[in-house]
Amino acid sequence: MAVKQVEEKVNQVLEKHQRDKALLVDILQDIQAEIGYLPKEALEEASRGLGLPASRVYSVATFFKAFSLTPRGRHLINVCMGTACHVRGAVKVLEKIEQVLGVKRGGTTKDLKFTLETVNCVGACALGPMVIVGEDYHGEMTPEGIVSVLKEYN
Ligand code: FES
Repeated sequence: MAVKQVEEKVNQVLEKHQRDKALLVDILQDIQAEIGYLPKEALEEASRGLGLPASRVYSVATFFKAFSLTPRGRHLINVCMGTACHVRGAVKVLEKIEQVLGVKRGGTTKDLKFTLETVNCVGACALGPMVIVGEDYHGEMTPEGIVSVLKEYN
């Protein structure tokens, strides 16, 4: 997205929130929803538009795990690495995903299709290893199984 477009989107969000500095977290959430992540230009425009120091905007943007300062994939993959899933072979499933997608955990594929992350227990231990892709829970995953699961996503 061009810098000009980013600035326009940011300003639309700022207007929606009446440029209220107290709503910085909501504003950043909305900007991320519009753009997909929080690029440097968006944070700078938000800082200008709200009259807040850039350091303040950056500290909020980096504090919350829900915010991403780099582009994210269309589908978020979360591999559960909690104890139960770990014991049932989550590491092998994670390694397979890393190998197939060519990214390490925390990374995003070049085509922006997938972002790969890990979580600790999603409350479905009996069905481990669990892999969550977007909103879909996939239980009893194996390295072979996850390869076919990933093919279901465009
Ligand atoms: S440890 Fe994976 S769901 Fe609980």
